[in-house]
Amino acid sequence: MPFLTQDQLLDPDLRGPAMFGDQADPANPPHNPFNALVTPRPIAWVSTVDGQGVRNLAPYSFFNATAYVPPQVMFASTSAKPDQDGTKDSVANIRETGVFCINVVEQSARDAMNISSGAYDKDVDEFARAGLSVAECQTITCPRIADAPASLECKLTQIVQLPGEANFVVHGEVTGVHIRPDTLRDGRFDVTTFQPLSRLGYRDYAVVENVFTLTRPDD
Ligand SMILES: Cc1cc2nc3c(=O)[nH]c(=O)nc-3n(C[C@H](O)[C@H](O)[C@H](O)COP(=O)(O)O)c2cc1C
Repeated sequence: MPFLTQDQLLDPDLRGPAMFGDQADPANPPHNPFNALVTPRPIAWVSTVDGQGVRNLAPYSFFNATAYVPPQVMFASTSAKPDQDGTKDSVANIRETGVFCINVVEQSARDAMNISSGAYDKDVDEFARAGLSVAECQTITCPRIADAPASLECKLTQIVQLPGEANFVVHGEVTGVHIRPDTLRDGRFDVTTFQPLSRLGYRDYAVVENVFTLTRPDD
């Protein structure tokens, strides 16, 4: 039996997936497992600035790279803050300025990352709140985290509204890249030097510690 009935599935306010197996038992209502099923997810630590110069920083794990040439990325924002116009600070700032920066999150920055996820008023600078040093981007007018393992400067290409309430995908083209020197080994960006943090379901995280290589059939 699906966790949601067919009527519920057709109700736009309740729309959710049919679930089968143990999670389908109405006597055993689950935590929504959706974001535990698509894991591990990289975390974009998105820095922006608003039109008045107020800096903003927040983590987004609905995030990925989407193209090589030109290099492009996306992240998705869900739900809204009461002091913004139907979205969160990051999307509002990007709408206003047309730029954003994605900073890579390392294991040692997990507490600062977590602090920056708070639903603070829009005039709160999460760099200051989380005790992070700021540097300026080179190709865009936007702050970045000074000592992140890497940062991607991005120009907005499009914001796509998705079904549901306040769901937006932000697409951007990468126009500048910063790589912290100590993350490079033999000319390669070596993730074992800093251990990127990734998002699992619920309140769980994982770090990348072991790396192996597979050649492809066509290599
Ligand atoms: C690890 C992590 C990942 C998150 N991923 C997302 C996400 O993909 N989309 C989203 O809307 N919120 C996500 N959040 C919640 C936002 O960080 C949170 O709503 C934050 O307050 C938004 O800040 P802003 O209003 O300054 O943009 C995540 C939080 C954490 C801790």
